[in-house]
Amino acid sequence: MARVFVTRRLPGDALARLAAVHQIEVWHGRLQPSYAKLLEKTHDCEGLLSMLTDRVDRGLIESSPKLEVISNYAVGVDNVDVDAATERGIPVGYTPDVLTEATADATFGLLLAAARRVVEGDDVVRAGRWLTWEPTLLLGKDVYGKTLGIVGMGRIGTAVAKRGEGFAMEVIHHSRSSGIPLDELLERADYVSIHCRLTPDTRGLIGEAELRRMKETAILINTARGAIVETSALTRALNEGWIAGAGLDVIDPEPIPKGHPLMDAPNLILNPHIASASIEARTAMADLAVDNLMAGLEKKPMPACVNESALALKAES
Ligand code: DGY
Repeated sequence: MARVFVTRRLPGDALARLAAVHQIEVWHGRLQPSYAKLLEKTHDCEGLLSMLTDRVDRGLIESSPKLEVISNYAVGVDNVDVDAATERGIPVGYTPDVLTEATADATFGLLLAAARRVVEGDDVVRAGRWLTWEPTLLLGKDVYGKTLGIVGMGRIGTAVAKRGEGFAMEVIHHSRSSGIPLDELLERADYVSIHCRLTPDTRGLIGEAELRRMKETAILINTARGAIVETSALTRALNEGWIAGAGLDVIDPEPIPKGHPLMDAPNLILNPHIASASIEARTAMADLAVDNLMAGLEKKPMPACVNESALALKAES
């Protein structure tokens, strides 16, 4: 029986399955444990089930002598120092596939909402500002038949592309290994949707120069990671009309503090990092995160591991 620290409660019964075979401690706070608490709680554990809000860095990995497995409840692992884990022979699990369609649905929802001013419409009705039907009330932009530019054509980007095809959109993409140059995509797309991983190469990928390249009528959607888009540049882009609008599920910083200048920018829809938050997807993520953790603790290949070489290293040592 291994000791496992789980940094948040999860939907479904996956944690009950884990508790039946291992000694688990679940953090019950609504906020994530502080870094100091995470260090303290992980110190004597063989397993860590972390969230994207937990900083699982080299310091934590090196000061957790018993740690054998990290299972991250997310498809993104930018919060985990995977190199440090690999050097220690610690496999790192993640949760791909099970959230792809939910995230793509939410992306398209943001795109449609931004294009057709759904949130502003709701505000007008609730505030009693809806006087009558008007030919020019809250005019938005067509989605059907327009050009959708996808940055990062992995699982989620591909799933968003399929939705775009359903709307007869011309889908263009840019990724490391295929597609068109980013500049060309930015110049051609009516909707730019971000789906790449956050890495040192993609941090700040969409900054002032890129936003200025976009059409003045274009809308930017980000459901990947906030830091891929430079918040200060986006704030200026919206305020000064370089682009027509944005829909963000992810923001840098996260959570964005009340009173942050971005909040006052026009034509912006914000969501609190909930693109994968369907009951089905989050429950499946919990199952996969627990399956990854249990496999790792049994020294078996994980169903979804970002650093399979860690196990080979462990076997050699
Ligand atoms: C992820 O999994 O990386 C998403 O951002 C949250 O589901």
